[in-house]
This record gives sequence, structure tokens and C-alpha cells, in this order.
Amino acid sequence: MGLRGTVRVPGDKSMTHRAFLMGGIADGTTVISNALLGADCLASLAAVEALGAQVERTSDGIHITGTDHLHAAAIDCGNSGTTIRLLSGILAGGQESYTLTGDDSLQKRPMDRVTVPLTTLGAKIDGTYAPLTIEGRRLVGTTYTLPVASAQVKSAVLLAGLFATGETTVIEPVLSRDHTERMLPKFGAEVTIQEQERGRRIRLQGPIRLQATTIDIPGDPSSAAFWWTAAVLGQDSAITTEHVLMNPTRIGFLQVLRQMGASVEITNRQESTGEETADVTLTTTSLQAISIEGEQIPSLIDEIPLFALLATQADGKTIIRDAAELRVKETDRIETVVSALKKIGARIEATADGMIIDGPTPLIGATVDSAGDHRLAMMLTIASTLQPEIQVLGNEVVEVSYPTFYDDLKTLQQANR
Ligand code: S3P
Repeated sequence: MGLRGTVRVPGDKSMTHRAFLMGGIADGTTVISNALLGADCLASLAAVEALGAQVERTSDGIHITGTDHLHAAAIDCGNSGTTIRLLSGILAGGQESYTLTGDDSLQKRPMDRVTVPLTTLGAKIDGTYAPLTIEGRRLVGTTYTLPVASAQVKSAVLLAGLFATGETTVIEPVLSRDHTERMLPKFGAEVTIQEQERGRRIRLQGPIRLQATTIDIPGDPSSAAFWWTAAVLGQDSAITTEHVLMNPTRIGFLQVLRQMGASVEITNRQESTGEETADVTLTTTSLQAISIEGEQIPSLIDEIPLFALLATQADGKTIIRDAAELRVKETDRIETVVSALKKIGARIEATADGMIIDGPTPLIGATVDSAGDHRLAMMLTIASTLQPEIQVLGNEVVEVSYPTFYDDLKTLQQANR
């Protein structure tokens, strides 16, 4: 039986991290409503608290009174790459010494992508993998061209730029998610964005103290994508996700669904915190295989496990190229996705920078492990709504980005009884 109904997914993970971190260093009290309170974002909240910000949880949201002195601290970032990388940018310009570490997965993820550019601003950071040791320094603005499309690297440099003397410029040849440059002006920072023939040039004048503001966080499209997939692949299914972030750098997955033949209904468009939101409805559709590559990849990087599941049910050969970044996510998502989907009957092969999938294939029952990766656990759970003999082990890891995932699943299952 398929899934039907309406869900309001939790607040966007990327925006919540940024609101917590910027609120933590802003002058005054920032109020953040609809924040995602998953383990990753809570690591950012605990971090700003450890650094001297005051945090209060009330019925209208999270109140953060920022600190102007970043106290010495040893911070555990857990599973969160966004916390460790963005915080490195902030602490590079701090007044004390700091250590940043995380869980086994985070300790295997490359940090030189942030330590190298931060060093060009004068930062003193030891370690290419966590734990990192940072000695706060006076920073000087610089110009940095991103070698890989990475919002985390771009954001680390821009946040360091808040503490640096003079202009900090980031050039990104390929567009990555742009929440930092959209949110900084909400906190009073002037950010200049120039479109270039290829990508963008983002400029910031420092040093500047951020000013507290209010922020409402829209629903996370990377979380809504689980329900979009369930709706498209399920029998007689229709799911509406309400108040979802429609930022163009984040909705590549919706474009891909359309290209595969799904009809995507978008209603109730609104504006919230400088971002567009909408309700999005997907219904059962038969799908055609397509290939994805190049500049499309960053706009759906976190949804590629779901795209691979869609491809197992689409008619024809799917090729995913230019997605080597998947190898340095919470797990090596090329290996973990391919081996999990193989176990449940998919015809799928890994390549150096992506996957090749032949479809459609009926899914078969098997017990599969999440490998400690939240997005893998949820993708496999969506597969289990199509083939109930699929059992997912280690699914408590959804806590990282979508703590209420199983409650929402139950709601959609019950609505169809
Ligand atoms: C994120 C950026 C992306 C994404 C991650 C969150 C962010 O990573 O995969 O889940 O909030 O900036 P990269 O910036 O490394 O591409």
C-alpha cells in the first residue's frame, strides 16, 4: 500500500546551522523559529553555548544572545561536517585557542579544504582531519577561488571574513548552496554578489560585528525529498509537503523528478527570511531513466541516494557522473548506496565519480545496514515502503537530520488506511 497525506518536514538543516552560528556571535538576542533540532544542528547550538553565547528554548523558538568574546573551548561536532567547517572559519578569528573534533565518520572527512583557505587569511590551524586545533588570530581579508563546489568551504571563508581586516572575496566557478550570503545581510553584514560568466564572486568588508535578528526556517527540501520519492514510487500515492524551502540552489531533485516524467505540483508560494517557500505535491508516476552530471550535481548532492533508488525503478540506464564528492560525505556514499541497493535487488555499479543503474528492477527483501549514515537509513526505509520484506538496521541515525522521520512515516501510512 502506498502513502497519502500531508507532512510539514522539519526546518532546513543548512539554514538552521547558519542561524545558530551567526546568532551565537551577533550583538543582541536572535530568535529562530522552526529550527531543526536534529543532532547535527544541536552540535552547532552547543558549540556557540560553549563559546559564551546564551541559549534559551521557548515556545516561540530558540533565543540566542551572541558573545563578543569567543571563550576557549574543546568542541565535539559529532557527525556534523557543517558544524566543524563553518565553526573553523569563525574560530580562526577568535581570541583564544580551540579544539574541534567529532565522531569516527567526521574524523575521516577532509578538513584541508577549509584549513588551506583559512590559512591564507592568516589563520593558525593544525590538522588536516579532526581533531583540529585553532589558535585565534587577527585575520586579513583575501581572495579565494573554490577548487570544488562546496558551500561549507565558501561559508567558512566568508565567516572568517567577518573578523578580517579589509575585503574577503570568494569566487565560486560552480554554484553551491547560498544560504550564508543570503543570511549574512539579515544580520547586518553587507555582502556583494557579482554574477560571472561562470559562477559568482561574493565580497564582504570586515571586520564587522553581526546584529541580532529574527529568522524563520522553512522546511528542508532534502528531508521533503524522501516523501517526494515515496509518493512517486508508491502505489496509488500522493504526498504534499508544506512550507518547503524553494531556494534554486537546493531543488535540483525536483527538476530531476520532472525530467524523469513526474508531475510536480507547486502551490502556495511565499517569502520567508529572504527565501521562497511553497507546498509541493507528488503523485505516483512511471519514470524514465535520465543521466545527471556537472553543475547539476551540487543542487541535489544530498539527494543522490534517493535519486539512485528512483533510478532502480525507472525505465532504462541511469548514469551519475561528476559526483566524486559523495565519497567524502558521512560515508563513502558511492560505496554504501551501491552495496545497499545491490542487496535489495538493484542492478547498480559504482564508478569513480558516480554510479550506473539499470532499471526497472523489482526490489527484493533483505536486511540492510544504514552504515551509520542518516540519509542511507531514510532512503532504505522509503524502499521498505515499496517492498515490506526490506529491513533496515541502525535506523536510529535519522536523529542526525530528521528526528521525526518515523512519526511522519506513520502519519502517512495511517492516512492511507
Ligand atoms: C552543506 C553543504 C553541502 C551538503 C551538506 C550541507 C551546508 O556540503 O552536502 O549536507 O550546509 O553548507 P558541501 O558544502 O561540502 O558540498
